[in-house]
Amino acid sequence: MTALSAELSALVGSAFAAEGLAPALGQVTRSDRPDLAQFQCNGALAAAKEAKANPRVVAEKIVARLKSNPLFSQVQIAGPGFINLDLSDRALSERGVALSQDVRLGAPETGRGKALVIDFGGPNIAKPMHVGHLRSAIIGDCLQRLFRANQWHVVSDIHLGDWGLQMGQLISEIAHRGLAPQYFDAAFSGPYPAQSPVTMDDLEEIYPAAVSACKADEARLVEARQATADLQAGRPGYRALWMHFFNVSKVGLDREYGSLGVHFDLWKGEASVDPLVAPMIADLKARSVASESEGALVVPVERNSDKKEMPPLILVKQDGAVLYGTTDLATIIDRVREQNPDLILYVVDQRQHLHFEQVFRAAEKAGITGKAALEHAGFGTMNGTDGKPFKTRAGGVMKLFDLIAMATAEAEKRLAEQGIGADYSVEERADIAKKVAIATIKFADLSNYRLTDYIFDLERFSRFEGKTGPYLQYAAVRIQSILRRAAAEGHAIGNPQIRSPEERALFLQLLSLPDAMTGAERGRAPNILCDYVFTLAQHYSRFYAEHHILSEPDAAVRGARLGLCQLTLAVLAKVLDILGIEVPQRM
Ligand code: ARG
Repeated sequence: MTALSAELSALVGSAFAAEGLAPALGQVTRSDRPDLAQFQCNGALAAAKEAKANPRVVAEKIVARLKSNPLFSQVQIAGPGFINLDLSDRALSERGVALSQDVRLGAPETGRGKALVIDFGGPNIAKPMHVGHLRSAIIGDCLQRLFRANQWHVVSDIHLGDWGLQMGQLISEIAHRGLAPQYFDAAFSGPYPAQSPVTMDDLEEIYPAAVSACKADEARLVEARQATADLQAGRPGYRALWMHFFNVSKVGLDREYGSLGVHFDLWKGEASVDPLVAPMIADLKARSVASESEGALVVPVERNSDKKEMPPLILVKQDGAVLYGTTDLATIIDRVREQNPDLILYVVDQRQHLHFEQVFRAAEKAGITGKAALEHAGFGTMNGTDGKPFKTRAGGVMKLFDLIAMATAEAEKRLAEQGIGADYSVEERADIAKKVAIATIKFADLSNYRLTDYIFDLERFSRFEGKTGPYLQYAAVRIQSILRRAAAEGHAIGNPQIRSPEERALFLQLLSLPDAMTGAERGRAPNILCDYVFTLAQHYSRFYAEHHILSEPDAAVRGARLGLCQLTLAVLAKVLDILGIEVPQRM
């Protein structure tokens, strides 16, 4: 179904065209003065500027063409030449009914026939996940859901940090501890045991120890570098150890992300593109895309228009090691070959912006991007209430499980305060608390524009009032319970209808779902969906406060109101689902 804003834009656009003006001037949006009008078009101002005419005169001609259309209850000129539009209740009602019958609820089809590779998560093997990885997971997952909802073909890739020096450090530390001698025995020809000699917890303890050892003793660093080089050169025992690191980490990470409801299509990473690196380097050299500089191999990426210094992308260091940018470049080759995407989106901390700028320019220079646009959707920092990057009470890096546990404890407290679930089973109460906790964390994160740093204030974001995840869950749960009671009492659900200002406002908000989804896609901006769904809940709550629903004696009126409840719930649930927020059965 066509979005209402698009339908109106086409209509007003043809009025402009009939006056010999560009149809694009007919762009219609929701009014920014909802007290004065439902929709507005500013095209007459632009047209008049172009033609050096009086904007009101242009607006009058357009208005004259629209006035008699029964779609509108009012068409007016405001101020210097804005065109204000109000739809008739009948027109709005018809479109609301069509919306309620559309399984996709009017979602845009911006991605039809298009493929997206979305790179997010990006945890590193053996290094603990920090809140930056958490933001990437939450924002990235929301974007993958949004693009899918808008009909893109989406492939998500966790892009593990599983290559490079940290692997050599782990291996040489294991050698020093004598933990798995077989893997270091050059005379041993395999097969290596299927069981990993280390667990995920071991890795998290071994890695920092290895880092300190390398810091304290230059010889240990040399060893770690050698182990890295041997691993990359394919030494069988090291490869086998690496495979164990990968497997145990995958199980652990899958559990951590799974607890957030976040899933990836691909578990590739830096290591998986290693076979592509050598041929890529040879090719870039042969085509003179890459050149020697101070003993390193680099791709110069600066441009005349640059205002800031733009260092070259280093492919191979003096000591022969390849870097983060090298694997990112090879990953583009892999993705273009495997998915041939229209867009590759990197949801990674904004502090890596320069890195991506270098990689993207190098990829363009190398001509390896196929039809793909490359884009970095960065994000700012999640800070604690002290304004500093979020830490545990003890000052350590906050781990994902700790954060969820903390938010769950807070949710349990809130639920108890509200008297919610006192008579439910322990399991159900725990399940609700967990869902509320995840909603708290995700909504806190997503409701801020991704590039702004924000303060994670658990006390504020876990409340059941205000612009919070739990408030929205609760709103959805209340509608569910009305609909359940209606079913139990045998009330029929009818088509939604407009009979009051509150219902009209709710209709308008429901009908602008496609605009919110399009806007959020365009800006890679989940906060637009958060604003949308919060406003929706507020309109619903005003409607609910002013109208009888189950107690309404007139069956037709009751049915229409129940229909409006049902449609509101469907839209609410759809947006919450895109935000990655689950709605409990009851609360
Ligand atoms: N592992 C990296 C980190 O922890 C993030 C990876 C992001 N993705 C990418 N293609 N570079 O910072």
